[in-house]
Amino acid sequence: MCGIVGYIGKHDAVPVLLDGLRRLEYRGYDSAGVAILADGKISVRKKSGRIANLTDLIAQSPVAGHVGIAHTRWATHGGVTDANAHPHSDQSGRLFLCHNGVIENYATIKEQLISEGHTFKSQTDTEVLAHLIGKEYDALASAPGTARLVKSLRSALTQVVGTYGIILMHADAPGVIVGARRGSPLVLGLGSGENFFASDVSAIVAHTREAVYLKDFDIAVLGANDFEITSLLGGASGYEVSKVEFSADDVSKGSYAHYMLKEIHEQPETIRDAMRGRLVREEATAKLGGLGMTPQQLREVDRIILTGCGTASHAAMCGEYIIEALAHVPVEVEFASEFRYRNLPLPKDTLVFCISQSGETADTLAALREGKRKGLRVLGICNNVASTIARESDGGVYMHAGPEIGVAATKSFTSQVTIMALLGLMLGRIRHLSTTEGLRILDELEALPGKVARILAQSDHIRAVAEKYAHAKAMMFLGRQFNYPAALEGALKMKEISYIHASGYPSAELKHGVIALITPEVPSVFIAPEDSVFEKNVSNIEEVKARKGPIIAVGTEGCDRIAKVADDVLWIPECPDYLSPILASIPLQLLAYYTAVHLGCDVDKPRNLAKSVTVE
Ligand code: G6P
Repeated sequence: MCGIVGYIGKHDAVPVLLDGLRRLEYRGYDSAGVAILADGKISVRKKSGRIANLTDLIAQSPVAGHVGIAHTRWATHGGVTDANAHPHSDQSGRLFLCHNGVIENYATIKEQLISEGHTFKSQTDTEVLAHLIGKEYDALASAPGTARLVKSLRSALTQVVGTYGIILMHADAPGVIVGARRGSPLVLGLGSGENFFASDVSAIVAHTREAVYLKDFDIAVLGANDFEITSLLGGASGYEVSKVEFSADDVSKGSYAHYMLKEIHEQPETIRDAMRGRLVREEATAKLGGLGMTPQQLREVDRIILTGCGTASHAAMCGEYIIEALAHVPVEVEFASEFRYRNLPLPKDTLVFCISQSGETADTLAALREGKRKGLRVLGICNNVASTIARESDGGVYMHAGPEIGVAATKSFTSQVTIMALLGLMLGRIRHLSTTEGLRILDELEALPGKVARILAQSDHIRAVAEKYAHAKAMMFLGRQFNYPAALEGALKMKEISYIHASGYPSAELKHGVIALITPEVPSVFIAPEDSVFEKNVSNIEEVKARKGPIIAVGTEGCDRIAKVADDVLWIPECPDYLSPILASIPLQLLAYYTAVHLGCDVDKPRNLAKSVTVE
């Protein structure tokens, strides 16, 4: 949420920053801006709307220099206007700042600054922080320059409450960009004769794959040839130079029209990658070495909490059904935003999993810290290996799905649910599953990628169905058991990218209110594979048909009953109940995708949303 890029080095900063912003646009696209330092002066260009608007502005009113900072915004405080776009300056107009996060006590600080004669141009909390640092800078008696800038930053940061990933520069310190983080991600990219700041490595991976991930309270001073990291808490701060695992090609759309479509089509591979090296035939189980737990410790776990936000919370709900079915361990799912404040009773043998594609979602990170504060073992299930959740957890499982850029999560969901199945198998084998049962589950897991590829091959049919119903007033998504969470996820995909109101329910809940919404203009999508609750689902379908509601079904290939009862069927291959949400989610992703495309929606950048929500 909000993208930040900084550049200092031998090249013109503007193209590097604009390219970085384009790669970060999925993190927020309300407005964008750059500040460029040249000849002892900082020039700013900023514009509301997409980065293309900023590019046009720069074409009309060019700016150039070798040092610069840039930002793409997802609005928190203050509307979507040019004035609220970052970078923001201090009172002197010589210091500029980009910020990701929320300064919670900004109103009090602003009031104080106004009483001291400061004037503000925007409604943002960020501008208040810029003024506060500038005020501290102006109050210091030492010589103008880097040391004074860092000192004033330190003193300002001790006065603010909230979260920040910030980069700033001052006309008095032309040889550096300074960054700091608390709660929001920030990374240094190390080049030769040039260095970078970014909120996410994907912004700079085209230039360097050497990265230093900053920790909370780090303050980094970045020159073209060197850098220094100290801690706000005092003294130097240790760091590690990491090699970024993916390349610039991995973050491009390739020949696909949208990132979302590319990511949907990657799923045979990403599901395989989630299992790679983790299926152990000789022992008929899954091995998840990253958990760092012995079989004895895993045997002692008597309760699991799965927590996350958005799509990750739906994967957690699938996990509840799968782990309870395969391992008979009680599982509870909590939205991370609820877990962090709820003060749940947590017996000591509870294991907490934080599920997050980005590994940076603020509420999920807070849930992790709350679990650790309570003395529990907290594990992460993340895609981003360098993320804060991955680093702060006691261990975990990486998804290895490659960068996910589409704001609507797709491949991360199926990877997460696959990992839930691996966990279920592993915990089940430690408890009551026989070798034969374990081997059968392994066979089914190994067959998944091929089955997903078969569903993807039906894209044309799914597109035709999507276009037939694209003008629906609303849509219902219904499923039972393992497919109830899949229904929730199907509804989320539909509403977030097509803006058609969609709700997910357990099929049997229809009669308890939802059925009042059924009309010929409101199609119902039933996930009804041939499983243990198939007949029950068919009865619910009949109830909707009796009220003239159109039926789209997700059905098992070759199932005549579903073909007869539904108006349209999206077919999935036969599979065991516990893996069906993985297969069922694929046609629902494509249904949402083709509906949104047909309606002319911006699939990769849906209205009001952002990926990686780093504010609570
Ligand atoms: C945002 C995204 C969702 C995502 C959720 C959790 O809301 O738009 O697609 O599911 O954050 O993200 P995480 O990175 O923690 O999985």
